[in-house]
Amino acid sequence: MCPPRYFAVDYVINPWMDPTQPVDRELALAQWTRLRDAYSSFGHTVDEIEPQPGLPDMVFAANSGTVIDSHVLGSRFRAPERAAEAEHFRRWFVEHGYRDVTMPTKINEAEGDFAWTGRFLLAGTGFRTDPEAHAEAQEALGVPVVSLRLTDPRYYHLDTALFVLAEATDSAPAQVAYYPGAFSPGSRRVLSRLFPDAVLADEADASCLGLNGVSDGRNVVLPVEATALAARLAEKGYEPVLVDISELRKAGGGPKCCTLEIRK
Ligand code: ARG
Repeated sequence: MCPPRYFAVDYVINPWMDPTQPVDRELALAQWTRLRDAYSSFGHTVDEIEPQPGLPDMVFAANSGTVIDSHVLGSRFRAPERAAEAEHFRRWFVEHGYRDVTMPTKINEAEGDFAWTGRFLLAGTGFRTDPEAHAEAQEALGVPVVSLRLTDPRYYHLDTALFVLAEATDSAPAQVAYYPGAFSPGSRRVLSRLFPDAVLADEADASCLGLNGVSDGRNVVLPVEATALAARLAEKGYEPVLVDISELRKAGGGPKCCTLEIRK
């Protein structure tokens, strides 16, 4: 995770961003700190990367790497405003002992558009990550990749429309939640084939960035407004943990965007 010490909304690269609206950086930092502390309280280790002046979106660490079995695929941003973030994260991985760090040649916004199910990688395209980056990810990470097309500009990254609730195990398939309205008709059919038991979210769940959740298979961190989704997940036996991310949402980000997951 990257503390939002230089957080701002200075440019527009998604429909959530409005530079004329004030941003309270102290509040953003307080909200981020509560998110970080929630992960620690569940027993997860949180590593922090040093934020950099001039990179206001660096708080959205999910966009900077996809890590599976300690193989790291870095990122290549579509927006020039974010391009320099990729190298800071690459260096972090190298300095922290990761031996296999590949940098993409195609536009690749990492976990913003890639979701690991435990068996295969779901990969979004349409707004940010280039479809050719999906094939590149398959080669670099050595896992099967399933491409999905996003069609609504508000849900510009896969992680704004879908998240994995529980990875597949030897005895059970992966569980996911998603908002069908964010996907093309063909991708909806792919999703319903792969995940017939998925939790289908509605517009109200999606429009507070409720699909930008983070689950460890038990605790599910969601934006505080995602009350209907939280109730349905509680019925299924998950433990919803609601966090206020109102300031970060002004840049189009939620809990997942702030969280690059490292699976050992
Ligand atoms: N302002 C950032 C951008 O548009 C937000 C990124 C949110 N990250 C995410 N994983 N969806 O790039």
